[in-house]
Amino acid sequence: MRLRTFALVSLLLVAAFTGANITSWKLPYPMPEDAQEGKAVWQKHNCVSCHTLFGNGGYVGDDMTNILKRRTAEDVQHYLTNPPVMRPNREHLHPALEPGEAEFLTSYLRFVGDIPTLGWPPEPRGAKQ
Ligand code: HEC
Repeated sequence: MRLRTFALVSLLLVAAFTGANITSWKLPYPMPEDAQEGKAVWQKHNCVSCHTLFGNGGYVGDDMTNILKRRTAEDVQHYLTNPPVMRPNREHLHPALEPGEAEFLTSYLRFVGDIPTLGWPPEPRGAKQ
């Protein structure tokens, strides 16, 4: 192959690869309305006092960034509308949400979970899925 052809083909491939990466990482903009409502629910109920997003927040509960990759939206909504007693001492019920709030909240968690973080935050060692 001649050098010029080789250079041209390489350039085209790099451009195609970069383009594919950028477009596949594009998040919906602006944030969908139901996700914005869910963010307000997250803030109003102070979920961050016990849970982290992207590793920031409280460590009482688990990180919620990728919860929808481990559980279905229906499971999470059911958990939040019919909350069980919580660890560590199982004396108090987990905070409860109205069904509408729980739906908005899962939209927010879906939006958060789609943000590319290169695997951050890592699963704690030995965490059960
Ligand atoms: C007082 C601390 C606290 C607050 C506030 C709190 N959580 Fe939790 N949450 C926990 C704990 C602890 C667990 C784990 C319960 C267990 O395993 O016994 C949990 C579990 C969960 C689970 C289930 C996780 C799984 O792996 O199935 C979800 C979903 C969840 N919380 C979401 C929320 C949301 C959304 C809010 C805000 C509305 C919230 N939490 C507020 C402490 C809290």
